[in-house]
Amino acid sequence: MSERLLSTQALEDDQSLEGTLRPQRLRDYIGQPRMKESLRVCIEAASRRGEALDHAIFYGPPGLGKTTISHVIANEMGGTIRSTSGLVLTHAGDLAAILANLQPRDVLFIDEIHRLPPAVEEALYPAMEDFQIDLVIGQGPSMRTMKLDLPPFTLIGATTRAGSLTSPLRERFGLVYRLDFYSPEELQLIVIRTAGLLGVEIKPEAAAEIAGRSRGTPRIANRLIRRARDFAQVEAEGILTQEVARDALTWLGIDEAGFDEMDRKILLTIIKKFKGGPVGVEAIAAAVQEEKVTIEDVYEPYLIQSGYLDRTARGRQVTDLTRKHFGESSPFFLDPN
Ligand code: ADE
Repeated sequence: MSERLLSTQALEDDQSLEGTLRPQRLRDYIGQPRMKESLRVCIEAASRRGEALDHAIFYGPPGLGKTTISHVIANEMGGTIRSTSGLVLTHAGDLAAILANLQPRDVLFIDEIHRLPPAVEEALYPAMEDFQIDLVIGQGPSMRTMKLDLPPFTLIGATTRAGSLTSPLRERFGLVYRLDFYSPEELQLIVIRTAGLLGVEIKPEAAAEIAGRSRGTPRIANRLIRRARDFAQVEAEGILTQEVARDALTWLGIDEAGFDEMDRKILLTIIKKFKGGPVGVEAIAAAVQEEKVTIEDVYEPYLIQSGYLDRTARGRQVTDLTRKHFGESSPFFLDPN
């Protein structure tokens, strides 16, 4: 299941571009209005006091901008961002090496912070609380510890699973923000902004078309606009009108609900083979020849969140919305067999 177009995980060719497309300042960041307003005030207050911003945690589904907002904060604070991940920091010594090199008001960004090993997490507590770390020097009988003072810095943690944080860690963050899915209007603005940065001419209706199929997720919107740009260059002299955008999305296999082929296969299988459900996820997995965990972790979240699939005690069930979506002469009405 590599490189799914609608994946919320960063794919390989997102990485190079996310850097250039990413908004640099708070005023350029679209959406999440309450988070932005809170951050604007806290950043301004910390700056005026000449202090680092409080440690902050961002949680929510992938692709909504947790890394982006962390870069914005570092820029607003006039510091540099050092990025690492809970999966990479396996030893307390790795953490100490990073911390020891921070400058005042730098941001230390730890992605997937819920994955930090306990020993590393514990080493983080004094760093967060007192801007100090305990360094272990030497080995055996000559081993001793030394306290090292750190400059005032901001730790920013990102996690898709707020529930997996230990309470001692969670309690050490002064600022806690949940990122929500973006509205179609916000995504439309993001698409227009990205198109501008990519140098593609786009009509507002075309941006709305792409936004409406991006599953509330800027990372997906930005990926679709790039593919739509390719399509427009080859098929339509580079200009993204609504019609060109629609054709591009059909070419990409993405329908009006933002479903790809596998989404449709899953829903149509439930409708056709299991009378709409309820049906166990194992039976669905066998019918579509995909692994159960992949169905659960990759495909179901969006289908459930968007109201096309219900998870009941007796199994999965499609909704009226699903029947309506496939009932009307959908260009994607495909036979699961
Ligand atoms: N690109 C990706 N996410 C964005 C956002 N929230 N605002 C502006 N541009 C973006």
